[in-house]
Amino acid sequence: MTESSGQSPALDNLLTESRTFPPTDEFAANANAKAEMYQQADADREAFWAEQARRLHWDTEWEQVLDWQPPFAKWFVGGKLNVAYNCVDRHVEAGLGDRVALHWEGEPGDSRTITYADLQREVSKTANALIELGLETGDRVAIQMPMVPEAIFAMLACARLGLVHSVVFGGFSSTALRQRIEDAEAKLLITTDGQYRRGKPAPMKDNTDEATKDTPSIEHVVVVKRCDIEVQWTEGRDLWWHDLVDRQSDQHTPEAFDAEHPLYILYTSGTTGKPKGILHTSGGYLTQASYTHHNVFDLKPESDVYWCTADIGWVTGHSYIVYGPLSNGATQVVYEGTPNTPNEGRHWDIIQKYKVSIYYTAPTLIRTFMKWGDDIPKGYDLSSLRVLGSVGEPINPEAWIWYRETIGGGRTPVVDTWWQTETGAIMISPLPGVTAAKPGSAQRALPGISAKVVDDQGNEVPHGGGGYLVLDKPWPSMLRGIWGDEERYRETYWSRFADQGFYFAGDGAKYDKDGDVWLLGRVDDVMNVSGHRISTTEVESALVSHPTVAEAAVVGATDATTGQGIVAFVILRGNVAQDEAKGEEAIKALRDHVAKEIGPIAKPRQIMVVAELPKTRSGKIMRRLLRDVAENREVGDVTTLADSAVMDMIKTGMAEGK
Ligand code: WTA
Repeated sequence: MTESSGQSPALDNLLTESRTFPPTDEFAANANAKAEMYQQADADREAFWAEQARRLHWDTEWEQVLDWQPPFAKWFVGGKLNVAYNCVDRHVEAGLGDRVALHWEGEPGDSRTITYADLQREVSKTANALIELGLETGDRVAIQMPMVPEAIFAMLACARLGLVHSVVFGGFSSTALRQRIEDAEAKLLITTDGQYRRGKPAPMKDNTDEATKDTPSIEHVVVVKRCDIEVQWTEGRDLWWHDLVDRQSDQHTPEAFDAEHPLYILYTSGTTGKPKGILHTSGGYLTQASYTHHNVFDLKPESDVYWCTADIGWVTGHSYIVYGPLSNGATQVVYEGTPNTPNEGRHWDIIQKYKVSIYYTAPTLIRTFMKWGDDIPKGYDLSSLRVLGSVGEPINPEAWIWYRETIGGGRTPVVDTWWQTETGAIMISPLPGVTAAKPGSAQRALPGISAKVVDDQGNEVPHGGGGYLVLDKPWPSMLRGIWGDEERYRETYWSRFADQGFYFAGDGAKYDKDGDVWLLGRVDDVMNVSGHRISTTEVESALVSHPTVAEAAVVGATDATTGQGIVAFVILRGNVAQDEAKGEEAIKALRDHVAKEIGPIAKPRQIMVVAELPKTRSGKIMRRLLRDVAENREVGDVTTLADSAVMDMIKTGMAEGK
């Protein structure tokens, strides 16, 4: 079995969880999803996906549903469509222009209501602005922005023109942004002057200025004024959004692109230091984003108010704020800020204000809400909620039950959705109205999707057995490659089970006695911190780039709130006065250095200074032993740590052959 499966102490509880929550008759009778869909999809997968693709408007119908030349898939071959038209214009043409697309809520309490007709005008103006800047189909556009409506306008304007967006999370450092701009050779960067964070404006353009000091591909930087804070200005390169976009015509006729035209690149951590540019294309991606959003959340666009709390910097924001909901004509809430500004009731206040009926968030936040206490949500009217979703990491049964009881009033289905940046859309999840939900299990691949749990040799394990999660058939929203690196694409996802042709997800999983799937966390050197993927190698490289550090090893240790926390072991350079460098100040400097190199989300929770690292004879660091050490210590107990004690524990472990 995999290393990670032994990692979580909560796992035993998790696997003995036996409560189930079947849907009510009323919910089942009105649900979008039907049990027959599983059989329909199994009987003829391609016909099933063709039917789902008809949810969209195609300018030219496809000639072939799937062209599968492993590991390269083309879906809806010969078909042509415009993704932005599908997300915006077609709803206006259907007479739904007055429907609210976005209830945008700013952190300081300002708000904007944007209808589909407004969205059409804004996206058209933005597209005209991008044309004026000389951008052409296929060019890459980098976006680093907080959760403001212009971020969504920008993404959709790119889609409308066949430009490939690369959204970089607002919390990523200038170094991380520069790497991504360089890798994709982006011509344009769109950003804001600043962003509201915990009640205060924080600079954003400073970061993008630093990133674009030496990026020759960038021709222009377009800046949205969000906080009215002072910024540096590069004449000729920098343009204010309001100067450029506001004067454009609000009419723009979209052109249809090939189903396989690139839609976006989104970078995600791999097992090496260099992030992978995951490439998604148009027709198959939008089909699956739309289909899953409709069925997994049971969306009724005429009456539901949907809210996904993700940031557009992550894939969840791409598929379940922008492309899935808007292609379905949903009315949704988009919130700019943090969940505890101005107080810990902010999410519940927003749900009450907009009568949110579908709420999609991450286990780390659910556990944080639990910690803040039941009294907070109990002070609000949450009776509008009817479906709750979870994504990003395994949800422990306690959190699942709390979510359903305290937030969902004991009524709402909870859908635990497993998927990845690479899969583009939800793959494994209960279907509300169909599935009797089991707290802690993502349960079953959706109709049209095929997943298996296999052993080292690629043989499917029996019920009750554990192993690796694989996807054994291509799916419409699958990644089409890693930007500029075909070899890495083959190596990362298709080499582990090359004989069988399985996609290797990098997650451990188990079947229970009913054959339902339980996800057990990553089996590679990728950590999952608050639902964010961070590679151990990336943090190690950041640490060794600090002048005091000779060597570093990083592990993800179980954390009650964030799932995993980053723990680093560092060996200092010979010339560094050891006592001084071990001091709190020096540790803080190292943590800040990682934040500067990658972003605050990658800051180690704990840094231990050690004299040596445990290695195999071939020089590979034995992270498993370090994880044992990291999980047995009290958090924050850095300065009192004796080197020999750490090494003794590690040595004892080694002697025992663990
Ligand atoms: C983990 C986020 C268990 C998993 C959409 C996966 C989950 C990685 C779940 C992808 C879930 C996501 N249960 N684990 N419901 N959802 N994961 O690319 O390890 O940011 O491989 O995509 O998150 O993270 P990514």
